[in-house]
Amino acid sequence: MHIRPFASALALGATLLGFAAPPARAEPSAEDLVNAFEAVLGPIRTHRPSHAKGTCAAGQFVATAEGTRLSIAPTFSGQRVPALIRFGVGVGNPQGSDTSRTTRGLAIRFETPAGDVWEQANISVPIFGAPTPEVFVQNLMARRPDPATGQPNAERVAAFVAANPAVTFQGRWLASNNPPASWATTPYWGVNTFRFRGQDGTVRPARWVFEPRAGTLRLTEEQMRALPGDFLADELRRRVAAGPVEFDMVLQFPAAGDDLNNPTVAWPEDRPRAVVGRLTVAEVAPGPGGPCDRISFLTLEQPPGVEMSDDPILQARAGAYAVSLSRRTQ
Ligand code: HEM
Repeated sequence: MHIRPFASALALGATLLGFAAPPARAEPSAEDLVNAFEAVLGPIRTHRPSHAKGTCAAGQFVATAEGTRLSIAPTFSGQRVPALIRFGVGVGNPQGSDTSRTTRGLAIRFETPAGDVWEQANISVPIFGAPTPEVFVQNLMARRPDPATGQPNAERVAAFVAANPAVTFQGRWLASNNPPASWATTPYWGVNTFRFRGQDGTVRPARWVFEPRAGTLRLTEEQMRALPGDFLADELRRRVAAGPVEFDMVLQFPAAGDDLNNPTVAWPEDRPRAVVGRLTVAEVAPGPGGPCDRISFLTLEQPPGVEMSDDPILQARAGAYAVSLSRRTQ
């Protein structure tokens, strides 16, 4: 988890000198983060509290020569790396609709033949809905249902949003970009910044996006009204049966002044980019379930060559995913 050196030093100083330090603002624990989902959605023990709906798939990743140069991680060796993939719909309920104005997910577990694992979970929006774990929890808590009405308290939500405008950025993006027409026709962004360690020893901060080789295609308003709530999984099965579904993994590098640690703000599109590999989806599970169910797709263990940045949201994620996984598999 993210540690605040200043807060720890303050607490230590207070103990040594025998005076009471002002209470440091506690960062939410991994349990707090998952409890905040449950405050809104109710107790969850059978599915994920986020991207509850999803379909498992499998394929492979092959790095480009540029990818091999930019990262020493085994996934970027240039050899074929098997990948377990979960496509998701960013809702808290497994029966949520595929036409909902929410994110779509692309979660990947790469595992090299030598057993090196790298997991990641990406979304179809370039930004996240909260700048820090504290704001993430407060945002959900502001939206928890009022016991008297069963609905969120509109005044409380409005006051929170007015004080924290960054929580509206992702919703505004979703309001002006209709949901994808297919899991295969949207980019998926990693959103958080990572540090790529290259063959030359240089460490470069970067964010990534998986760009669909099929191009970006979104639902029309008419399709959003007419399509059934479940169409994405069958559409993907049909596509994959007709030929491989592919994405190019592209790194984006920041310029001076770009904020590395705030995932609610995307870096400008003109930043330098490098195509580092291609992900191919080769098969899709025939129904729900499968090996994806027992995986959380984000662990604290990052491979050498793709290290976590200080982005506080990224630092908080792995712990929350582990707690969530243990609740639904206990
Ligand atoms: C403090 C910030 C965040 C928290 C607390 C959080 C929490 C969670 C939790 C608890 C799950 C379910 C894990 C499981 O049960 O396996 C999850 C899934 C997911 N999250 Fe996050 N998340 C955060 C930020 C993000 C960000 C920034 C992204 C985008 C890059 C993201 C993308 C996803 C995706 C795609 C899934 C579904 C993965 C799958 O299909 O298994 N999350 N998140």
